[in-house]
Amino acid sequence: MNAESPNGSPTRHRPWAEPWKIKVVEPIRMTSRAAREVAIREAGYNTFLLRSEDVYIDLLTDSGTNAMSDSQWAAMMMGDEAYAGSRNFYHLEKTIRDHYGYRFVVPTHQGRGAENILAKIMIKPGDVVPGNMYFTTTRAHQEMAGATFADVVVREAHDPTLELPFKGNVDLDALSALIARVGANRIPYISLAATVNMAGGQPVSMANARDVHELATRHGIKVMLDATRAVENAYFIQQRESGYATKTVAEILREFCSYTDGCTMSGKKDALVNIGGWLALNDEQRYEEASNLVVLYEGLHTYGGMAGRDMEAMARGIVESVADDHIRARVGQVEYLGRKLIEAAVPVVRPIGGHAVYLDAKAFYPHLDQEQFPAQALAAHLYEDSGVRAMERGIVSAGRDKETGKNYRPALELVRLTIPRRVYTQAHMDVTAESVIEVYGKRLTARGLKLVHEPRYLRFFQARFEPL
Ligand code: F0G
Repeated sequence: MNAESPNGSPTRHRPWAEPWKIKVVEPIRMTSRAAREVAIREAGYNTFLLRSEDVYIDLLTDSGTNAMSDSQWAAMMMGDEAYAGSRNFYHLEKTIRDHYGYRFVVPTHQGRGAENILAKIMIKPGDVVPGNMYFTTTRAHQEMAGATFADVVVREAHDPTLELPFKGNVDLDALSALIARVGANRIPYISLAATVNMAGGQPVSMANARDVHELATRHGIKVMLDATRAVENAYFIQQRESGYATKTVAEILREFCSYTDGCTMSGKKDALVNIGGWLALNDEQRYEEASNLVVLYEGLHTYGGMAGRDMEAMARGIVESVADDHIRARVGQVEYLGRKLIEAAVPVVRPIGGHAVYLDAKAFYPHLDQEQFPAQALAAHLYEDSGVRAMERGIVSAGRDKETGKNYRPALELVRLTIPRRVYTQAHMDVTAESVIEVYGKRLTARGLKLVHEPRYLRFFQARFEPL
């Protein structure tokens, strides 16, 4: 049958085919293995330190790597570059209100700008911020403001093999116990992340968001959403949660946000732009404080570090991002790569997440101790094999305990193959899968790394390694 889905999707035979065609291309360079071995050595075996020119398929991140649409590029010519009161800001503000539902919007240059301001206006030293697994920059800003992060994600999130629909959920018992132990007055807000990045892009269910909000509100605690990939989360709710199959992703996103009191946002992901972000709040007094502080760190409260054209492109990107056929193709491409690896018995985080396929480096290289940085090494080996650039998300990203100085030893030791939105083709996914399978075939001879240079903050960005 050649039926269409209720959302007007293509046939069953092409479940995720892209709802766009390519108008402009950017050439990329194929390199030799010998050249890549030199490049990765010079980069200290850290894929963040490679030059982009030396990369063939760049799966480092989905952040700021989106391809904009013709409408967004046209918007770049519509920038109102006034210092104050740009019309693009008012358009962006209205678009965020319409799609995310919050009352007040403070623009920032990217997500961490919003995280900094949120932490500064909400946290006092000695506070505790619970969250469904940490994210690097989010936790760093909470800690810089004097708080301690407490992980309240469900236990299943730490097991890459469990095939469950909502492994990003908050463990409500753990959250209740934490509130009882430290007292609600020391918890300024719950940091709720949509499609939890460090768990493998695993979503939060609508029911869980509702329950978290209910529990938090009962104790006078706010819920602040990390909305960075909330559209992808809404898509998973549509696909997996009972009662949502006939709702649009746009409707689901609105409802999801309604269970939170504000959000930080990196527009560089869901919102289909290369730079930009925002902080949104419902509380007017907090908004006053935030729009005052933003002047200090980002720029005036009607541009927050973005050019007028950036705000216009983001406003249009938000509208495109919630279209059902867009998000189906986006997540569908990630699942396509994931399925290829699963078929080849490569250990990956299950189920496949919204923005990336995560290789389970502990299972990939079982002979390496975590202190030999198996995920860091695997990302380097993959680059040497094919020029595919991935990212470590394991012990290096986790950093050190600020009290004891010891390495955090996260249960998950992962390599992230992150798919930029609307950038690569199915053939690029095939090349990536072939390379991972090739490296997997040689896994038993792989060696680990030793850390030779460690920066103080967010060490994974600039740390350097040597082979053992
Ligand atoms: N929250 C999440 C869940 C993120 O993934 C990121 C960025 C941020 C906040 C910070 O946003 O980069 O705009 O300042 N993640 C990127 C990544 C860097 O590769 O996952 P930002």
